[in-house]
Amino acid sequence: MGAGMTGAVQKGALGEKTVGSATLLVTGGAGFIGSCFIRHLFEQPGFSGKVVNFDKLTYAGNPANLTDIEKQQGGKRYFFEQGDICDHDRVLAVLKKSGATVVVHFAAESHVDRSILGPQDFVRTNIQGTFTLLEACRSAWEGKRDVRFHHISTDEVYGSLGETGLFLETTPYDPRSPYSASKASSDHLVRAYFHTYQLPVTISNCSNNYGPYQFPEKLIPLMLLNAMGGKPLPLYGDGKNVRDWLFVDDHCSAVWSILTGGLSGETYNIGGECERQNRQIVEKVCEILETLRPARGNAALNGRAYSDLITYVSDRPGHDRRYAINCDKIKRDLEWKQRFTFEEGLRKTIEWYLAHTEWVRGIQTGEYRKWVETNYAARPVP
Ligand code: NAD
Ligand code: TYD
Repeated sequence: MGAGMTGAVQKGALGEKTVGSATLLVTGGAGFIGSCFIRHLFEQPGFSGKVVNFDKLTYAGNPANLTDIEKQQGGKRYFFEQGDICDHDRVLAVLKKSGATVVVHFAAESHVDRSILGPQDFVRTNIQGTFTLLEACRSAWEGKRDVRFHHISTDEVYGSLGETGLFLETTPYDPRSPYSASKASSDHLVRAYFHTYQLPVTISNCSNNYGPYQFPEKLIPLMLLNAMGGKPLPLYGDGKNVRDWLFVDDHCSAVWSILTGGLSGETYNIGGECERQNRQIVEKVCEILETLRPARGNAALNGRAYSDLITYVSDRPGHDRRYAINCDKIKRDLEWKQRFTFEEGLRKTIEWYLAHTEWVRGIQTGEYRKWVETNYAARPVP
């Protein structure tokens, strides 16, 4: 157990100079958003520090997501440590050995459908793992200044919206899936460590991300790869659930803004301000795919259009109807804004998947196929 932070809580921002020269411990850096964030760091003109990527390499963690960084920076400014965030001694040892003063905590079980079929791993990694990390930081950073624990969370902790309204940082928590409940629980722990032990923390709650390297269990890459393979495009329920979509690079630039300019103890919502129904998303994927790889040239389509593959299947239990983020605070206080429109981001994403067939083949292994069989066999067409 950590002995506790000493001294008064630091309310200010760390500043770009401090973060830019620090060693950052990034948990879950081999996943979709974490790997994008690490790449983003090495592209930052203001960053000359080091990165330790601490990742267990679950089914969602893939070292191939960072082959370029490993090649350019491996052993110099980039270090990979395979480990479990629930392993206190290991986390503490890596924190001490690396001298990391900033933790950016992405590691999590992240897929709602998996949390419905098997919630235990979510409770373990998302709650117990976050607790373990907080304890290790409290211990490793005792008496230190200019440290920061940034916790990556989701808009799903706020629950489900009706036709109108937006989530604010002050919206009461109302999680409704095992995934969102576990993330909500971890957010509460992070805030508790700020108030009780003066651990300098920030939290961001972000909306749905999409982009290159996303594991194809999530809506956009799943639909894209199914369409390419001439397989059904399974829309849950009536296909009218709404999500707020953000290109992953924009999420990463927001996290950098919070690390450098965010105030300790604060929460920042991050969103795309881009609400779409699921069926609109899938139609758009089909439309862009048609321009890049016309269905008539794809033998798997057998004369059909991509949109002919859309299939309505039985709904996700407890399916949140609508998410929508108000991100005025980060825009106003940290001068962050989205750089990519949905149309641009989606096109870039689809082009990336089409160009990275090796990566896609690597993902579509036995484990992935097993998941697809388990999840979609339980969803008969109603
Ligand atoms: P992901 O599933 O692609 O990656 C998760 C990573 O965490 C993987 O590399 C995995 O190996 C690692 N990991 C899992 N359990 C671990 C453990 N016990 N110890 C160490 N590493 C472990 O997830 P993602 O989509 O990149 O999401 C990253 C974070 O962002 C999560 O905290 C998620 O809740 C949050 N988030 C995601 C979205 C989204 O749309 N994907 C939106 C908002 C917030
Ligand atoms: P998902 O990508 O799993 O993200 P989240 O559940 O965290 O928002 O799903 C996005 C939306 O797409 C959600 O409303 C569920 C829906 N969905 C489908 O309709 N079919 C699918 O096969 C999947 C994976 C998701």
